[in-house]
Amino acid sequence: MGTTRPESASLLVTQIGTLAVVPPGPIPGPRMRQVAMIPNAALLVRDGRIAWFGPARQAPLDEGSVMLSAHGGCVIPGLIDPHTHIPFVGDRSGEFVLRLAGESYLSIMESGGGIRGTCRAVRSATLDELVAANLPRLHRMLEYGVVRVECKSGYGLSPEHELKQLEAIRELDRQQPIDLEATYLGAHALPDEFDGRPDEFIETVTSPELLAEITRRGLARFCDVFCDRGAFTVEQARRVLQRAAAAGLRPKLHADELAQIGASGLAGEVQAVSADHLECIDDAGIAALRAAGCVAVVLPGTSFFLGIPHCDARRLMAAGVPVALATDYNPGSCMIESLPWIMNIACCQLRMLPAEVLVACTANAAAALDVHRHTGAIEIGYEADLTVLDVPSLEAWFYTPGRPRVRAVIKAGHIVYRRPEHAW
Ligand code: NIG
Ligand code: FE
Repeated sequence: MGTTRPESASLLVTQIGTLAVVPPGPIPGPRMRQVAMIPNAALLVRDGRIAWFGPARQAPLDEGSVMLSAHGGCVIPGLIDPHTHIPFVGDRSGEFVLRLAGESYLSIMESGGGIRGTCRAVRSATLDELVAANLPRLHRMLEYGVVRVECKSGYGLSPEHELKQLEAIRELDRQQPIDLEATYLGAHALPDEFDGRPDEFIETVTSPELLAEITRRGLARFCDVFCDRGAFTVEQARRVLQRAAAAGLRPKLHADELAQIGASGLAGEVQAVSADHLECIDDAGIAALRAAGCVAVVLPGTSFFLGIPHCDARRLMAAGVPVALATDYNPGSCMIESLPWIMNIACCQLRMLPAEVLVACTANAAAALDVHRHTGAIEIGYEADLTVLDVPSLEAWFYTPGRPRVRAVIKAGHIVYRRPEHAW
């Protein structure tokens, strides 16, 4: 992986072909294309924060700085993936093939597969096994230019195994450079032993003792619910999110993925930090998100992988909603761990422009995780989380999909990934 820690407290990134100056989020849809591009730029980092940026000929002389040449590549804020289902174990490639042969995600779930299958695998894994299986996934994400990832529980589906998943996230956070943001997703599906008893299940996963333990130990910042046909109702999701909020967990929601049951309306009502999926969102849902200042996290990899219609991201953007993009990386509905690949699907299938896609994976992704006041932008004083590409512009990046384009990753001023020279 090539982690190097500079001795010096300052780092000068030179020979930047284009610096994409993404402003801090959240950025509403109509302004998402307004990213200033500085050609032939430089950027100075001091004490882990952005201290100066501008045209290279005006760069301040800071003797003793570590120098990093971008070799004419584009520099962007480090990418942020605000919705994944790491950590998981197990294999559901059989379901993938069943779907190709015509079965639906919902029918597989109803016949006992889907999330329940992964739940059985996660329950039989130890904490160490969960960590070991997911560490390489995060190493690869770093190589895709990602510096911050949201991770959810939701495959334990009992207090013991949900806590084990959250502990695995904490351990994974300690063992590699990407910052992880944890979300408690206790109400993701009904486990086998609660068949036909959803309300009793909800009592178990929202018990005051469990929620207090999660917040006391700082194991999660957010609470999410899968609110959809075949999962939990709006009324059940409201109960979960209200109890979680009372315990100190901020609401998020899996909304309007498989059907329109009013989930995005609930996201607005509970002032969710983000509403995610939204393939079936309607006008009332869009109005609710906009009124609540909720970030829409769009997951085009899931539509691609499941073969379901895409979310109309342009409609959300036109209505003034800030849109973020994420992988939704999970073993059932999207086994894509590459955020650049998702960015490319957003360009080609959602008709989002390169600058809009970049904002969706930086400033607005930061807002979906409530970290936008200190990261996700090129702004003086912001954390120096940067991704150095080997192409001179965003256009060139998205025009050549499927090729690894990340030359280096900087996290809080430290070079945490450098692509080996022979691979350039
Ligand atoms: O975001 N929709 C609910 N949860 C995941 C899928 C989880 C799974 O199938 O394991 C999603 O698509
Ligand atoms: Fe998801």
